Amino acid sequence: MSEQIFQPNPKFAETARIKSMDDYYALVKKAEENYEGFWGDYAKEKITWKEPFTKVLNESNAPFYSWFEGGKLNVSEQCIDRHLDDKKNKVAIIFEGDNGDKEMITYLELHYRVNKFANLLKNEFGVKKGDRVVIYMPMIPEAAFAMLACARLGAIHSIVFGGFSAEALRDRIQDAQAKVVITADGAYRKGKPYMLKPVVDTALEGETPVEKVVVVQRNKEDITWVSGRDYSYNEMIDAQSSKCEAEVMDSEDPLFLLYTSGSTGAPKGVQHNSAGYILWAQMTMEWVFDVKPNDTYWCTADVGWITGHTYIVYGPLAMGATTVMFEGVPTYPDAGRCWKMVEEYKINQFYTAPTAIRVLHKMGEDEPSKYDISSLKVLGTVGEPIDPPAWKWYYEQVGSSKCAIVDTYWQTETGGHMISPLPGATPIKPACATFALPGIIAEVVDVDGTPKPIGEKGHLCITKPWPSMIRNVWGDKERYVKSYFGDVTKEGKAVYFTGDGAMIDEKGYITITGRMDDVINVSGHRMGSAEVEAALKKDSNVAEVAVVGKPHELKGESIFAYVTLKTALDETRFEDDVAMVKELNTIIKKEIGNIAVCDNIVFVPGLPKTRSGKIMRRILRSIAKGEEITQDISTLEDPSIVKQIEAIVNA
Ligand code: PRX
Repeated sequence: MSEQIFQPNPKFAETARIKSMDDYYALVKKAEENYEGFWGDYAKEKITWKEPFTKVLNESNAPFYSWFEGGKLNVSEQCIDRHLDDKKNKVAIIFEGDNGDKEMITYLELHYRVNKFANLLKNEFGVKKGDRVVIYMPMIPEAAFAMLACARLGAIHSIVFGGFSAEALRDRIQDAQAKVVITADGAYRKGKPYMLKPVVDTALEGETPVEKVVVVQRNKEDITWVSGRDYSYNEMIDAQSSKCEAEVMDSEDPLFLLYTSGSTGAPKGVQHNSAGYILWAQMTMEWVFDVKPNDTYWCTADVGWITGHTYIVYGPLAMGATTVMFEGVPTYPDAGRCWKMVEEYKINQFYTAPTAIRVLHKMGEDEPSKYDISSLKVLGTVGEPIDPPAWKWYYEQVGSSKCAIVDTYWQTETGGHMISPLPGATPIKPACATFALPGIIAEVVDVDGTPKPIGEKGHLCITKPWPSMIRNVWGDKERYVKSYFGDVTKEGKAVYFTGDGAMIDEKGYITITGRMDDVINVSGHRMGSAEVEAALKKDSNVAEVAVVGKPHELKGESIFAYVTLKTALDETRFEDDVAMVKELNTIIKKEIGNIAVCDNIVFVPGLPKTRSGKIMRRILRSIAKGEEITQDISTLEDPSIVKQIEAIVNA
């Protein structure tokens, strides 16, 4: 099936923004012929500027690129105020709670609530332009209000996914030197309340830069209030004025930070700036989802990840669309929940992760047919490769073989989609991200920039800067340069390397082959092997550790840890093993969160290392997969260790 090509639905194509491959190639050509003109024209058309920009792209300080210099804007106005003339009563956000609660928030209401929130932050807590505000929130509308309130004030938000532990939250607060934390008492999940505020309390123990904590009371469970530090949003918001002047921001003023994992070291604070980010967020919403004025669009991500930033909040609102925010999980109360919501809200575009598709397929193969989901026009996937069986089910059962599936490839660092089908134009190859979007120059190359021959795997690079690209690693310029511009050069110039491998076929289709570094992708979430290893090393029994990804039926990859202990476990081995595995996973939960729990932890007498001490993870990856070791192991310090590890893993 993977070689079959699926043509766009001709009826859909008739009214699509990009209607054919001819349209697509015309845009690609336009960008190639006049790169700055291409971007400058879109920036003029799509952004409501307070002051026009004077330069499209400044490359003089490469790889610190700047876009639209001289321009002034405010992203919250781009997302709200400018829609008030003609869409004031249009629904901006549809909220559905885990328990079925519903709220429809119009653009006017959104304006009212964001202004009040901004005034609360400004007048009561002294938040001002450039301050960092950490948001640790469930999927409730107040999370979006908080983001937009920060944007209105020019404060830089840093959202920490609600599944991260107190330690992980503390590290991110410290690194960003956040002054305020916005959180909730908790929320609901699978019909039960869960808590967030106690995690914040633990994270703020000891010395912290945080002065104030704003608590949205969602589940109204009992929480501890620290006097002089913690304040109830619910009690204070009514008293705030609903008019808050939006800060005038430069194009390159930071909009937000979002921490993400790399293959080495602690998570990096990926910095996105104002104009370039919002431009591409809006343009990709229009091109890739082709959302029409009367459409209802739903992305199931969490605002704690980049997908939630760009494709639940900023992109949809910048284009004036109706976006759904869902607090719950797709399988509660049953595997028909999403399809029930699609029927109820007449969802037109549905965007989710392959992990969710695999779970929904497995748990409720026939569920879609129980609902009227005929409103669907575009289906999206993101975050990891989608396997052909999941793709087929999504296409046939969810999309009734008439919806385009846009397999969107991008990253936290790219801000928005890089490679994706266009629903009205691209003949789709299943499980393939297809072509780079117009204006995005994606190449598959060697480290010296030489293009890889057709069908050969190489480094996936974006070889020209683009507006929504990462601007810096917060507080660490050197790390920014080294992490993204340290591996590949083209014509002697460092170019952005995604960390992914890819292959191009004879028709130009780009297939992502997966990470070329030690990043593990668990359920579409990026986990750095170094981060998990650092957590495991906190156990005083652990001598050495190496973690790798292992293919997993539902999660895409699971985490597999090889551990050597300071003292070998004794004869009551099995029980010792079980207790030790439990202990190690408890540490991971504490240090990172449940998302990093290892499915496999094996205790080995040593790790395969080169004579210079480098751990050969490739070998460990093969062993975890149950593959035969074909690589040369003679250069290892102790080649016999490979057989010993294999025997333990396969026992
Ligand atoms: O390996 C790629 C994979 O997810 C990584 C980016 O992860 P993150 O920054 O957390 O952002 C996820 C949401 C954009 C990439 O380096 N990835 C993302 N999309 C795809 C993908 N792998 C294959 N196919 C995709 N469509």
